[in-house]
Amino acid sequence: MTSIVTITVDGKTLEVEKGKPLLQALLDAGIDVPYFCYHPRLIIIGACRMCIVYNEKTGRLITSCNTPVEDGMVISTKHPAVVENQKYLLQAFMTRHPLDCPICDKAGECDLQDYGALFGPQKQIVPVSALEKERHELDWESDFLEYYSNRCVVCYRCTRACDDVVGARALYVEERGFHSNIVPAQRPMDTSTCEMCGICVYVCPVGAIISKPFKYWTRSWLLKRHLTACSLCPVGCEVQIEYGVGDWRSEEKVYRTKPTDSLDICAKAFFGYDLLNDSRLRKPQLFGKEETFGNTAQILATYLKGEGTTAIVISGYLSNENLALLKEIAQRSSALVSTTLTANLYPFLKTYGEYKPIGIEDLKNYSQFLLVGEDLTSTAPVLSYYIKGKVFKVGNVERDAKLNPEVISWEATQKLDGRGLLVFNLEGVFGESAKEWGAKVRKFKEEKGWDVMLVCKEANFLGVLENFSWEELTPIESLIRHVEEGRVRNLLIFGEDLFDLYGSERISKLREKVEHFVVFSPFLDGLSSLSYFRVPMFLMGEEEGTYSTLMGKRKTKGFLPRGGSLQEFLKSLLDSLPKGGSISRLSEELFPQEGLVEVHLYRSNWLTRRSANLSKLYEKNSLYEGVKNV
Ligand code: SF4
Ligand code: SF4
Ligand code: SF4
Ligand code: FES
Repeated sequence: MTSIVTITVDGKTLEVEKGKPLLQALLDAGIDVPYFCYHPRLIIIGACRMCIVYNEKTGRLITSCNTPVEDGMVISTKHPAVVENQKYLLQAFMTRHPLDCPICDKAGECDLQDYGALFGPQKQIVPVSALEKERHELDWESDFLEYYSNRCVVCYRCTRACDDVVGARALYVEERGFHSNIVPAQRPMDTSTCEMCGICVYVCPVGAIISKPFKYWTRSWLLKRHLTACSLCPVGCEVQIEYGVGDWRSEEKVYRTKPTDSLDICAKAFFGYDLLNDSRLRKPQLFGKEETFGNTAQILATYLKGEGTTAIVISGYLSNENLALLKEIAQRSSALVSTTLTANLYPFLKTYGEYKPIGIEDLKNYSQFLLVGEDLTSTAPVLSYYIKGKVFKVGNVERDAKLNPEVISWEATQKLDGRGLLVFNLEGVFGESAKEWGAKVRKFKEEKGWDVMLVCKEANFLGVLENFSWEELTPIESLIRHVEEGRVRNLLIFGEDLFDLYGSERISKLREKVEHFVVFSPFLDGLSSLSYFRVPMFLMGEEEGTYSTLMGKRKTKGFLPRGGSLQEFLKSLLDSLPKGGSISRLSEELFPQEGLVEVHLYRSNWLTRRSANLSKLYEKNSLYEGVKNV
C-alpha cells in the first residue's frame, strides 16, 4: 500500500508518496530541477549529476533521481552549492558542444539549451566551433538515424531505452569518460537489430541522435502537436503527431510522429508518418470528378435501395463507430458482410470457442510466454517490449530473437509446466488450418491452465469481433466467389485488406463482375484507381473514433485539417435508407487454404506499404540476419 509522507522543499511542505524518486516528486510538484539521465520509464543510473539538490539535514549534496523520498526530508533546490554545481556541470557539458543550435533539429525542445538559459554560466570555457570535432565523428551508416558526437551529454538514455524497453540492443557506449561515444552494435545500422523505433531520438535530451528524414525540414516551434492513438497495428500506442507550417508549404503536412513518455512506439509510426501525406484521397470522386460527401451518400443510397444484392467488405482498420454504422447500413440494405478476418480469426474461434481478450496491461501477470506463429515483433512491435520473462517459440523467430526464445515444436509444448501466457499470432493461419489450431490451442489451454492472447495484424480486429458475430458474416472466400459468379450488383470495399490477403490481381477482376464497384480508401492509387466511385477513408489524427486495442479502448482524434469524415458520410447514407431489414449470409462456408503473408517490421499491411520511409527500410533490411524460418 502506498504511504504518503511529508517533506519540506525550499521551505514549503509537500505530501509525497514514500519511496518515489525525489526528482520525480519535485517535478510533479512543479519545481524546476535540471536533469539529463533520468527518465520515468528507464532504469535509474545517476550518471549526469545534474539533478543534485541539497539535503539540509545532512548538509550534503545528493542526486535526487536515485534518492527515494523519506518522511521528514528537508531539501533545498536553490542552495548556493546546488547553483554552483549546476553551473559547473553545464560548463563541463558545453566544453566541446558546438553550440550549433541554429542548425540543430533539437533546438526549441533541447534540455541543454533550456538549462543553459535557466541555470547555466552563459559561457563556453573551451570554445569549440560547430566545424571542429573534439570527439571524433562516428558514422552510424544509417539513412534514418544520425549521431552528433559533440552534442552528446553521455546520459545513456538511448542505450537504456534500446536495451531495457525495446530489447533491440542496437547501441553501446564506446570508450569511457570524456571520450565516450554512442555507437551502433552493427553497421550499416539499418541492417542491424535496430528496430528503427526512434525511441533513442525521443529520449535524447539534446540533438545528439536525430531522425534524418526530419532533418532540416522545420523547427520544433513551428509545429502543432496532438496526441492520438496509432491505428497501424492492434497495440494502439498513444503517439504525438506533429504537423503544421514547417517548410511553409502546407498546414496539412505531417512532419513527424513521437511517442509519449510511456515510450510506446515502433518504426511503423515513427518513420511511417509520411503515409499520412502522400497520394491521399481527400474528397469523394465520382466518374473522375470531385463530389461532396453529401451528394455521394445520396447516390450510393440509390444503388443500395435498388434491385440486386449488395456486398460489403468491412475493414479491420475501421473504428468501432464506423463498424457499428456499417452494421446498420448492411441491415437496412440486406447486404452480405465480410472481412478478411473470416479467413483466420473467425475459423480459429469456431473451434476455440469464446475468446476473452488479454491486453498489454495483463502481460505483467506472467513470467513465461509461449509464442506461436509469425514474428510478433514485426506484427505488433510494442507488444514485444512488454514480454519480460522466459519465452518459448513455435514458428518463425526473426526479430523475436531479441526475446531469447527457446525454439520448440508444438509437440514439445506438452512438457511446459507452471502457468503462462500463450500468444498466438494468426497471420498466415487460414481456413481449415485455423480451425485445427483453434482446437489445439483450446486443448492446450484446458490441459495446462495457460491463458491465451490472440493477435491479428489489423488495428481493430477486436472491434470487428465485438461488432460482428460469426452468424452475421459471410466467409470472405464464399463472398468473393459469389461476386465472381456475377451474383452481386453493388460491391462496397473498405480499405485494401483484400490486397493483403489475395493480392491485387484477383480483386481487380471483381470490378468487371459488378455494376457498382465502390471503393473506400485513404489513397488515390491502388484499389481506388480501379473504381469510378471513390470515397475517402481517414487515418489516425484525421477522424474521431474508438479502437478496441491491446491497450484497451483507444480514441483516435480528428485534428489534422482534412475537411470530411467517414462517420458523417456513413450517417447520412444510413439516414437515406429505409428502416428494417437484416444482414444476409451465404450458407456455403468456403475458406482460403492459403493467402499472401507479409510479416515484416517495415511492411506488414497495406497502410505501411504506402510509406516511402518504411519501403526504403524494407529494402535495406533484406540484409538483416535474424534467425529466420525456424
Ligand atoms: S531506433 Fe530504437 S532500436 Fe534502433 S537504436 Fe534507437 S532505440 Fe534502439
Ligand atoms: S546520444 Fe543522447 S541519449 Fe544517448 S547518451 Fe548521448 S545525449 Fe544521452
Ligand atoms: S506498435 Fe502498433 S500501435 Fe504501436 S506505434 Fe507501432 S504500429 Fe502503432
Ligand atoms: S538525473 Fe540524476 S544523475 Fe542524472
